[in-house]
Amino acid sequence: MATDPEAVAEAAAEWIAEISRRAIAEHGRCSIALAGGGTPRLLYELLATDEWRDRIDWAAWHVFFGDERACPPDDSQSNFHLAATTLLSRVPIEATRVHRMPADRADLDAAANEYSALLSAELPAGPGGAPRLDVVLLGLGENGHTASLFPGTPALDVTDRWAVRGRADYAPFDRMTHTFPEINAASSVGFLVTGTGKRGALAATARGEAPASRVRPVDGSLTWFLDEAAAG
Ligand code: 6PG
Repeated sequence: MATDPEAVAEAAAEWIAEISRRAIAEHGRCSIALAGGGTPRLLYELLATDEWRDRIDWAAWHVFFGDERACPPDDSQSNFHLAATTLLSRVPIEATRVHRMPADRADLDAAANEYSALLSAELPAGPGGAPRLDVVLLGLGENGHTASLFPGTPALDVTDRWAVRGRADYAPFDRMTHTFPEINAASSVGFLVTGTGKRGALAATARGEAPASRVRPVDGSLTWFLDEAAAG
């Protein structure tokens, strides 16, 4: 457990750098799904600093997104916008290796199917045939949602696709999200959770009562990066 959000970002950066080094040594690339929301901002900003930029072989990365809001990529509410402005525009990664989720498309279901097919085309098959990412970063909402897998929504129970339409209980309501089979096929999954507001969601997750409770990598590791405020 880390003392504060800065220490959470530092610990997660170390974790990502180590996984990236190992993945590139093993199979020549590192595939990562970035998290949305506000908590990852400190991590992305840290990874873009001089100290960290040289510790990662960015040219060997393929970047995906765990979920996205139905808004344009330059919108301040866009998860792509957060990642692009705080990290991706500041490190030497080719645009062709950054796979934005086109959740702003009117035909959201078709767009999700295409993203699902992209995951299958770009990634090796993992447990259950789901495309296997090296790293999945996740956040945790106060109601226990993760990515855009919200309580009581159909996306929770999808098992035959890797990305689908999601429905949030706050604006922007329409979303695109990875499914649980896709998340659980990853080699390493990490939750970034900070602040007292997340204590209830953490407790519900531990009790198995939250969508986030379903994050259980089939053949991979699960790491929680918590600060003292969240852990309580
Ligand atoms: C999103 C996220 C979502 C987020 C949680 C936590 O697009 O909203 O992917 O799952 O991780 O809502 O959000 P905060 O980090 O802002 O608390």
